[in-house]
Amino acid sequence: MSKQIYARIAGTGSYLPEKILTNDDLSKFVDTSDEWITSRSGIRQRHVAAEGETTSDLGYHAAVRAMEAAGVTAEELDLIIVGTTTPDLIFPSTACLIQHRLGADGCAAFDVNAACSGFIYAFTVADKFIRSGASKTVLVIGAETLTRMIDWSDRTTCVLFGDGAGAVVLKADEETGILSTHLHADGGKKELLWNPVGVSVGFKPEEHNVGVRIKMAGSEVFKYAVKAMDSVAEETLEANGIDCHDIDWLIPHQANLRIIESTAKRLDMPMDRVIVTVDKHGNTSSGSVPLALDEAVRSGRIQRGQLVLLEAFGGGFTWGSALLRY
Ligand code: ACO
Repeated sequence: MSKQIYARIAGTGSYLPEKILTNDDLSKFVDTSDEWITSRSGIRQRHVAAEGETTSDLGYHAAVRAMEAAGVTAEELDLIIVGTTTPDLIFPSTACLIQHRLGADGCAAFDVNAACSGFIYAFTVADKFIRSGASKTVLVIGAETLTRMIDWSDRTTCVLFGDGAGAVVLKADEETGILSTHLHADGGKKELLWNPVGVSVGFKPEEHNVGVRIKMAGSEVFKYAVKAMDSVAEETLEANGIDCHDIDWLIPHQANLRIIESTAKRLDMPMDRVIVTVDKHGNTSSGSVPLALDEAVRSGRIQRGQLVLLEAFGGGFTWGSALLRY
């Protein structure tokens, strides 16, 4: 009988653009305050891509760091998947742009758009490729330049988002790795969190798409996010026959500290076993989970052999989780 093959994290990396915008900086041009933003979201600052700096630039830097950590060369990659909702171009995909820059020409490369759940979706697809035996070494990236589609005069959204990228190299392993993944979507709620312009809807090239901006019904999204994160966590525990107390680390989507605290409370996880980086970079959509994962790995908090639960929720709505033995 053939042995079960797992997808195991061989290395992680992340990248944040140089420019930092603090809450005080924001309060100079929009009617808000550090006190409001910190108490409602836990965000203290966000990074903003420089002029000309693109999603593929951010993703590339995160990928190089993950590949260095994994000791993997570009020639060894047989698949690159990028979770992003802010691609450089409509096409080619951001994955193709990064692939070429890495010198990994020839391997398969594509993007996955699941808004803030983009990394979990991409990670899940990579897991399936490795488990099936189709791929051995996969680069998974979550990269975004959300600030490019923010309405900087709308205080209900502009304080929440930032730019950033994270990446992991997954390798086929006979011992352990990703144990299960769970994905969901509900397209019926699209208007609660969306960017209502696309190639076949309201696309006006002659106007350079002025008006392509994120719109969000914040408190509605909050309620759905909390419920979805709770139910997918339950589903994951049940599927693996484990108790919430078996989990060593929770790495939730970094959108809002209050959502993170609520999820942790339901899972009976003390906050010192929850990775929180939202204060440093705000909501980086697909970048958020791999950014937090990389920080946790590099700071030595997550150790080999520990059980880690990743979770995300985003526009679509989309949501999902992955349980892994690091
Ligand atoms: N500064 C000061 N006041 C503000 C600001 C601001 N930046 N933004 C809103 N307010 C005001 C509102 O106008 C409102 O005033 P009013 O009562 O006079 O009308 C008041 O603050 C309260 O507003 P709420 O929207 O009810 O505030 P809430 O406590 O819900 O917090 C927030 C808002 C932070 C947006 C929260 O709802 C949230 O985090 N939602 C979830 C967002 C999220 O998780 N998204 C995840 C997916 S993102 C993706 O997929 C791209």
